[in-house]
Amino acid sequence: MVQPTATRASTDPRPPFVRNAWYIAALRSECGERMLARSVLGVSVTLLRTRSGRMVALRDRCTHRGYPLSEGTLGPDDVITCGYHGFRFDAEGACLSVPGQSGVPGGSDLRSFPTAENGPFVWIWMGDPALADPAEIPAETGFGDPSFRFVSGHVVIDAGHTLIADNVLDLSHESFIHATKIGSREVAETGITSESDEKRWLVRASRVMRDVECPPTYRERTGLRSPIDREQHISFFVPSLYVLDVMVVAAESQHDPATGPRRPYLGKVVYGLTPQSEKRTHYFFAIGRDYAQDDPQMDAAVHEGQLCLIDEDAYAVAVLQRLADEEGPMPEVSTRLDTAALIARRMLARRLRAETR
Ligand code: FES
Ligand SMILES: [Fe+2]
Repeated sequence: MVQPTATRASTDPRPPFVRNAWYIAALRSECGERMLARSVLGVSVTLLRTRSGRMVALRDRCTHRGYPLSEGTLGPDDVITCGYHGFRFDAEGACLSVPGQSGVPGGSDLRSFPTAENGPFVWIWMGDPALADPAEIPAETGFGDPSFRFVSGHVVIDAGHTLIADNVLDLSHESFIHATKIGSREVAETGITSESDEKRWLVRASRVMRDVECPPTYRERTGLRSPIDREQHISFFVPSLYVLDVMVVAAESQHDPATGPRRPYLGKVVYGLTPQSEKRTHYFFAIGRDYAQDDPQMDAAVHEGQLCLIDEDAYAVAVLQRLADEEGPMPEVSTRLDTAALIARRMLARRLRAETR
């Protein structure tokens, strides 16, 4: 069985991360006129918006002695001055001048990384720039669909990204980890169907529940009461983008057609699981809904509720990360509900191998 990268032996020659892929690097709202420092796939980058409004990502280590450029200054002419000894760079990363001499030494330019803006996020491409095509960012996020209103945020989790992928791909944990919010016993009791699309590095999994309990969070947000019909449809783009389409609606079995059609409540749960390092992960989220569109109180409740859910998951995966660090990998027993997570692990291993060929 393929083991998570977090528990691979350090002698493994494969690079621990897929690099030729779009990763979410920041919320667009974080990126203004100041340089933002962020570690992505173990690499320090700085994100900045030029005067003309273009997003730029540069290696955040000065080529002189490695001081972070994000500790320096960004001038009104988009010139970055290193805060240590004064190397100056333009927004493309080209070194313009160094102190104490007229010429610029070879190798002084900074590496720059392709970026894209899509939905509430800034995305970054850490691999071969020639392969970066923003059109490949999946449309399944729903960011282009005006019927969804999104609330977004970002936290950092003390666990490797593969442990978090396991978590979000097996939603039976909702019945236990999130029992007081979005879980009900039926989630863990209902089987899933799964499929994969190797060309898109995509794993899909679906769970369809009928006549089930309406969990507290859905009761509060929609006014629905048990029983409900409930669906979960996951699309996971290996290695890092997760989209969950959810639907809750009054149970058909209880519905009186004379009262008109049932109103389904649709939601989108988008996660960007971007490794900060092998054992820490940026957890970007955008939660969409097709109801209560102009309700700032609902925005706040969704944002707060999502942070609480992530907190519950973060505790579990951090425990697993700590145990993996202390004890190394252990043999696992898997069930049918693990199918999507196992497909994703194998796909990640193939994608890593494909990059090293
Ligand atoms: S480290 Fe940047 S100028 Fe010296
Ligand atoms: Fe969870």
